[in-house]
Amino acid sequence: MEPQDIKWKKSVMTKILGIETSCDETGIAIYDSEAGIVAHQLYSQVKMHGEYGGVVPELASRDHVRKIIPLIDAALIEAKITHQELSAIAYTQGPGLIGALLVGATVGQSLAYAWNLPSIGIHHLEGHLLAPMLEDKQPEYPFLALLVSGGHTLLVDVKALGDYKIIGESIDDAAGEAFDKTAKIMGLDYPGGPLLAKLAEQGQDIGVRFPRPMTDRPGLDFSFSGLKTFAANKIAACDGSVQSKADIARAFQEAVVDTLAIKCKRAVKQTNHKSLVVAGGVSANVSLREKLAELMKQSGGEVFYPRTEYCTDNGAMIAYAGFCHFAQKEHQLPTSYPIKVHPRWPLSEAF
Ligand code: KG4
Ligand code: ZN
Repeated sequence: MEPQDIKWKKSVMTKILGIETSCDETGIAIYDSEAGIVAHQLYSQVKMHGEYGGVVPELASRDHVRKIIPLIDAALIEAKITHQELSAIAYTQGPGLIGALLVGATVGQSLAYAWNLPSIGIHHLEGHLLAPMLEDKQPEYPFLALLVSGGHTLLVDVKALGDYKIIGESIDDAAGEAFDKTAKIMGLDYPGGPLLAKLAEQGQDIGVRFPRPMTDRPGLDFSFSGLKTFAANKIAACDGSVQSKADIARAFQEAVVDTLAIKCKRAVKQTNHKSLVVAGGVSANVSLREKLAELMKQSGGEVFYPRTEYCTDNGAMIAYAGFCHFAQKEHQLPTSYPIKVHPRWPLSEAF
């Protein structure tokens, strides 16, 4: 019998290996349909890129090559299984850096071929969006999702798995990008988002008020690029002390959080959804979490977040998204394992 004739039998216990390499984190995890995440390995390249003040794509690809196999070995050991017990391999197929994506896709497809397994290409943002499902308290479909990462700011009407309608997005910088660029202007290390948030904790309200971009007109789109210019002017005019920078960081963060909350409120009203999922790197921001929790409480709904380690890029969300797709339909062993990635890939076109 040819491999393509073998109908893939879904075992009762499904174990999916997840591979994430879209940017500067090599994330490998194993999701077990009964036990949840049984292995979670992560290698962050931030220290290496930090020297350059941002991600250097070629260095990112090379580092993924170095780390990916040892991390897969470590994940199998952590889960106490051999590759024979795996049901499928899920890997991030896009969007992201082409070279970095190619490393994950090549290893994922090659292992799937060598181990006789089906493979599933996952949309990175779908991974983020489903990450709260790994928690005890899970949202039910349909729900509204706010995806806030370094590359994207999206409001998504999620009707069901794979049914994603973008109802709002940033017309320029993403929220995380605005955090990172403003942090850089302040002299903070890369990636500056979490460092700026930490500095903001020390900040006092000194009456500096940043604009809340695009909230003075109807619609759900965002624009964050003006905030970094506003911050740059404030920083240039301040005395340069840590306290002054902290005060500006606080006002900046408040503006981003407020703007996101205003648009979420509108989107809740428009969609009538009672559940709001917040995911992506910026969803780790404590101030944003508090604000959105308060907002949903007021509107009689609930907010759902992933735990902090699943907010930023990781393999667990890819393994879980892979499981969702694997569980939905019978998978056949493919006749070929093409290595194809989508550096630009709208979420609405995710399959
Ligand atoms: O989702 P993610 O890990 O990577 C992308 O897919 O882009 O998000 C990374 C982004 C970075 O811009 C980082 O600065 C931001 O998330 N970030 C934060 C915080 N933690 C991570 N921004 C604000 N506050 C935080 N606590
Ligand atoms: Zn991400």
